[in-house]
Amino acid sequence: MTASQGVDRRTVLLGSVGALTSVALASCRIGPAPSSRAIGPHSAEVRSAEKLRRRSGQRLVARKIVAQPTTVDLGTRSVQTWAYGDGIPGPVIRTTAGDLLRVELTNELPTDTSVHWHGIAMSNDMDGVPGVTQGPIGAGSTFTYEFTTPDPGTYFFHPHTGVQLDRGLYGVLVVDDPREEGMYDQEWIVVLDDWIDGTGQTPDDVLDSLTSMGGMGHGGMMDMERFRSPYLGGAGDVDYPLYLINGRAPEAPDTLRGKPGQRARIRIINAGSDTAFRVALGGHQMTVTHSDGFAVKPVTTDAVLIGMGERYDVTVELGDGAFPLVAVAEGKGGAGLAVVRTGAGSAPRAGVMPSELGRRVLMGTDLTAAPGVRLKSRPVERRLDVVAAGAMMPYRWTINGKRFPDAEPLVVTTGERARLRFRNTSTMFHPMHLHGHTFGLVDRGARKDTVIVRPKQTVEVDVEADNPGQWALHCHNIYHAETGMMTVLSYRT
Ligand code: C2O
Ligand code: CU
Repeated sequence: MTASQGVDRRTVLLGSVGALTSVALASCRIGPAPSSRAIGPHSAEVRSAEKLRRRSGQRLVARKIVAQPTTVDLGTRSVQTWAYGDGIPGPVIRTTAGDLLRVELTNELPTDTSVHWHGIAMSNDMDGVPGVTQGPIGAGSTFTYEFTTPDPGTYFFHPHTGVQLDRGLYGVLVVDDPREEGMYDQEWIVVLDDWIDGTGQTPDDVLDSLTSMGGMGHGGMMDMERFRSPYLGGAGDVDYPLYLINGRAPEAPDTLRGKPGQRARIRIINAGSDTAFRVALGGHQMTVTHSDGFAVKPVTTDAVLIGMGERYDVTVELGDGAFPLVAVAEGKGGAGLAVVRTGAGSAPRAGVMPSELGRRVLMGTDLTAAPGVRLKSRPVERRLDVVAAGAMMPYRWTINGKRFPDAEPLVVTTGERARLRFRNTSTMFHPMHLHGHTFGLVDRGARKDTVIVRPKQTVEVDVEADNPGQWALHCHNIYHAETGMMTVLSYRT
């Protein structure tokens, strides 16, 4: 399937929301009233939701980014890829909570693109999903994203078109908290990625092999039981030649510098497409303070397991020397490396495996919300099942038995409390991501926008339906999403 076919498929959805509504109504007695209408991205409801976020005297942060083909130096080799600007990761954009962000995107790629601002509770028309919230941004054209960034935290941005995320198209968005007390002396941003582009295959080639299944010959890429993790079961479909931290191969790692005794805040972002990373800093414990931007009850651990699309903020108290920050490709073999240097000592080598990786490993479902960010408890008014299923042979991934865009939308009404029940019936893990909202895990309350659902596991999350529009909900394995594991949380009147 080509990117343009994908877009066409999706563009159909935008035109057929009305049709989907009547189908849903015909089959469901307790559905919305017959007069119900989908609240589209350009509706008055979306405009007024954004208006509530705007403030007079709001600061404007204006940036320009260019999506373009480029050559990137990974430290050990150069690769041809697509990126925002001429390096990876792309730009770091910083706002303070409440600021208005305006980003002008110029598309110099040979094909359509789009930009999604992952994790931001933003205005629906700026969410960047072609066929759901906007049209595709054609080659050679420009689109201006403009929205309030309401909540502090660690976010990132990437295309929502085909499998472009698996190229070098990702950048970081940090929203600073004006009320934060600055409990740290250093801040580092650590972006994890699984890398294949320019090494002989593009992500589109990978997708072709996966879907055609003639691909067994292409480097044995999709040996079914090949990638297994004690934490995740089936841990991925793609055998990447390289794992990067901050755009660098492990043989030529990025160095993060500090002083012994300092407290460093590390914002870790998994921008990978098919890889969860187990992350540890040799010789140190980490205290997790935030996940997906939102504060959690601080918890100290040796390692964290981060699914695609998840972010973790951890603080560490720095020792004296040179230490490996390692991101193991969970279940795959291979790892990314960065060096934390506060003093003398030889730099750790590629392949080093700090013992912390094998001690306490923490996941998102282990986290509890910090008191200030926990969702208010109130009765659940709507329950929605989200069954994630699929298999490698044929390569086909579904939500509630259907592939996007044929999936039934999940319907909510503005103002209600909805409970989503993610149920994974497959043998692989799925990091399930909802746009435009930060849900609360029902078990422990942590606020997240992406949660790992393990094979045969059920994870329930509560959503405050306070941001009207049409919001993508999908697996953040880009190959799963692109082959169908996506639907829409659809606000209706
Ligand atoms: Cu990073 Cu639709 O997601
Ligand atoms: Cu998946």
